[in-house]
Amino acid sequence: MDYFNYIDNKLWCEEVPVDEVADELGTPFYLYSHRTLTRHFRVFEEAFADIPHITCFSVKSNSNTAILRIFINEGGGADVVSGGELYRALKAGVDPEKVVYSGVGKRTDEIEYALRSGILMFNVESSQELEAINDCAGRMGKKAGISLRINPNVDPMTHPHISTGLKENKFGIDIERSLDEYRQAKKLDHVDIIGIDCHIGSQITEISPFVDALGRLKKLIYLLREEGIGIKYLDLGGGLGITYDQETPPHPQEYARAIIDASKDIECTFIFEPGRVIVGNAGILVSRVLYTKSSDDKNFVIVDAGMNDLIRPSLYDSYHHIQPVILKDRESFLADVVGPICESGDFLAKGRKIPRLNNGELVAVMSAGAYGFTMASNYNSRPKVPEVLVKDDRYYVIREREDYSDLIRGEEIPAFLYESAEL
Ligand code: LLP
Repeated sequence: MDYFNYIDNKLWCEEVPVDEVADELGTPFYLYSHRTLTRHFRVFEEAFADIPHITCFSVKSNSNTAILRIFINEGGGADVVSGGELYRALKAGVDPEKVVYSGVGKRTDEIEYALRSGILMFNVESSQELEAINDCAGRMGKKAGISLRINPNVDPMTHPHISTGLKENKFGIDIERSLDEYRQAKKLDHVDIIGIDCHIGSQITEISPFVDALGRLKKLIYLLREEGIGIKYLDLGGGLGITYDQETPPHPQEYARAIIDASKDIECTFIFEPGRVIVGNAGILVSRVLYTKSSDDKNFVIVDAGMNDLIRPSLYDSYHHIQPVILKDRESFLADVVGPICESGDFLAKGRKIPRLNNGELVAVMSAGAYGFTMASNYNSRPKVPEVLVKDDRYYVIREREDYSDLIRGEEIPAFLYESAEL
């Protein structure tokens, strides 16, 4: 459930009319609803109220510090995958003891930063990384909390680019090798084995892959306990899907019930790393139609937001509902909604039946709160768009629009390039 609604044929975010924000700030921009964000987080949290757990919001899905702060205020932690994400989470005020750090390519400086910050645990993805963490902790006179990220070889039945728990994926440690890897870790002086982890993919719309993965981890936990390796935290990752179009993902309560049922007598504190399910449908991208044009067999609606602002349609052929901000009686037509970028792959929708739109009109690209702004780039030297948070009848710019000077910040033309060319 979200708080983007039409009232008198106009799209509102909570008690703010979307066209007013567009008139005041210009387009494009991301618009998030505080009430929706809070609701989604609470629904997820409360679904697990009966078991000890920490909800570590997945920073990669939306890393604006104001958004992070909302979840921190609700008692959430953070799932980070880089020094930059850790920096953001700490700046937003996260309790470091609620931070887990995943990712296959943690650099030494990032490991040191995380150790200095006192995070709860590293989700370790290879034996070499395990050694690197042990070395860093030794040098720093610390003990690193670790879990091994297990690749359980479970098919999450999602888009191949966002599936992570299959043998062929680069993530985690092969489940068959994991017992040996734990034994290896036990021998190290500067790591403290506290957890087990997996993350099998994203936009998962079935419960069974999660339950399968949990079952495999559970067996491993028992084997480890027999060997005197105690597992305190079970991190099940993120991945719960949302409705973009016709998908019918399980409600977080259903998901929680299945997990709780399957985890009787495990006696671990659970960690969850949800991203999309919390923020996906809590944000939209607002854009204005610049031009329309038609060729013999195609209609194009050219809007001022492009693949650099929202890359999901170009990258994964993802569906995002596109609707006019102002509704009126109009016929539908079949069109490609495209951006200004010089790439044929720059589209927000292809061959989509949409209400006929005219130049100057505003459109809302729905379900853009997750992996929207965080995947934006400056391609074609386009300044990044602002992010705006609505709370009740007010809005707050939580990241300002970049200007042209931001585009060349940090660039330098060496003096020799100003010297006249030798003839
Ligand atoms: N934990 C780990 C270790 C992850 O790699 C991810 C996402 C999450 C948690 C959060 O997953 P979520 O709950 O949001 O599904 N850019 C793609 C999604 C890539 C997901 C990467 N990992 C997209 O736009 O669909």
